[in-house]
Amino acid sequence: MSCQLCVKNIRYLAGVKKMTDCQGAGEGAKSPMELYESLASQGDEVRALKTAKAEKAEIDAAVQLLLKLKVDYKQLTGQDYKAGSPPSETSVAPENGPATDGADDDDTVNPWNVSTNNAKGVDYDKLIVRFGSSKIDQELVDRIEKVSGQKPHRFLRRGIFFSHRDMHQVLDGYEKHKSFYLYTGRGPSSEAMHVGHLIPFIFTKWLQDVFDIPLVIQLTDDEKYLWKDLSLEDCHRFAVENAKDIIACGFDVNKTFIFSDLDYMGASPAFYRNVVKIQKHVTFNQVKGIFGFTDSDCIGKISFPAIQAAPSFSSSFPQIFKGRKDIQCLIPCAIDQDPYFRMTRDVAPRIGYHKPALLHSTFFPALQGAQTKMSASDANSSIFLTDTPKQIKNKVNKHAFSGGKDTVEEHRKYGGNPDVDVAFMYLTFFLEDDEQLEKIKQDYTSGALLTGELKKLLIETLQPMITQHQEQRKQVTEETVKQFMTPRPLNFNF
Ligand code: TYM
Repeated sequence: MSCQLCVKNIRYLAGVKKMTDCQGAGEGAKSPMELYESLASQGDEVRALKTAKAEKAEIDAAVQLLLKLKVDYKQLTGQDYKAGSPPSETSVAPENGPATDGADDDDTVNPWNVSTNNAKGVDYDKLIVRFGSSKIDQELVDRIEKVSGQKPHRFLRRGIFFSHRDMHQVLDGYEKHKSFYLYTGRGPSSEAMHVGHLIPFIFTKWLQDVFDIPLVIQLTDDEKYLWKDLSLEDCHRFAVENAKDIIACGFDVNKTFIFSDLDYMGASPAFYRNVVKIQKHVTFNQVKGIFGFTDSDCIGKISFPAIQAAPSFSSSFPQIFKGRKDIQCLIPCAIDQDPYFRMTRDVAPRIGYHKPALLHSTFFPALQGAQTKMSASDANSSIFLTDTPKQIKNKVNKHAFSGGKDTVEEHRKYGGNPDVDVAFMYLTFFLEDDEQLEKIKQDYTSGALLTGELKKLLIETLQPMITQHQEQRKQVTEETVKQFMTPRPLNFNF
């Protein structure tokens, strides 16, 4: 995912720090001269917008980008940008410059990269402030319990879903018998999904069950084709394979529509119309500000955010909502996807639609520690849904970062640190029993429970869970996938 060159050339834009994409052909980190040229053209852009008396928001976004480019330039070259004074060939920032993201010691969280220096993981309270979302506090958890009539899911009880946008509004409507629908998705970059990918789907399934509402799941095979070195055929095939894993989570075919962008864009005029409406109301400057796109990114990437935004509007699915455009959408996802939906929420009122509401989860950490999220591109960081019981055991024993002490004697004396211990973190996601989890925490902290014993508990939790998933996946036939992926009415009256 990240490379040294990228780390030095980070863009830090509108509160979202984006690693330069190292995977697309012909892309990569900018040289000082390229950055100098981007700055010069961005300066021209700002002047042109001001002369044309453009909308304030557009000018502000352009100015913000200009300022961020100046910061990048200073970090890269160690010099202030001066119009008319190009950098010398050798200007490069000192090697011991900013450690992770080139701006300050804030965490990096965006759709392409999640990283922090903190062994406990991303500072999610800070992220809420930076992204301008709201904390899921006890009051909201209690309200969800009251409105749904169900014990809150462990992800809510334990703060794994920690942030939201407009959830109270969704519940207000639901109390007045106004239905809503769920929208989530997956970027099918390979056949194998990992355990971290299950988090939003497990929670979405719970939401669908307790509120009894429709669900649409977008498989962005187009996105993966644009970002990765993969063929269209492979991306589409991965979409179908990933759909099997998603279906294996237990979704109800009568209430769920799963679609591949490559198929649905061509099949649904209503969907494409919404994509075009969104494209017309978001400028290149805005997506540059939100996602850090540059002049050398292909135009497919630049317009893609409109395609991830469109399912947030019920009129994109006339077969389900009978053409109604006023059904509220709720999106469960990890917080890395929020930039797409900040853009969507900004554009929604301008095209006459409701803003989608969101529920954000924390990241399921990599085996090596909570400094990064579990990611499919690093096999050793991940437990895949295809792993055998033996592979799970080996990976946990070999790679799971331990908060225990070096020797048994020291551990017994001083105890372990569950806050940085990956095995303990994984148990907080998957062990259902709150009391058992609390006892494990106490025993580990006091030193009564050793690292090997804690890992064994995790292995015994993961092995049956993944075996069961694999068995459920085996039941999913091509015919079942076809049913889920056929545009059709669902069992709801709108
Ligand atoms: P993708 O395929 O990267 O991830 C799919 C979903 O899994 C979440 N996720 C994680 N959650 C917890 N811990 C992790 N380590 C972890 N890694 C990934 C992601 O936040 C996401 O919810 N562009 C999207 C696909 C998409 C989408 C959507 C996602 C299209 N529309 C609407 C959410 C909601 C993508 O590539 O996701």
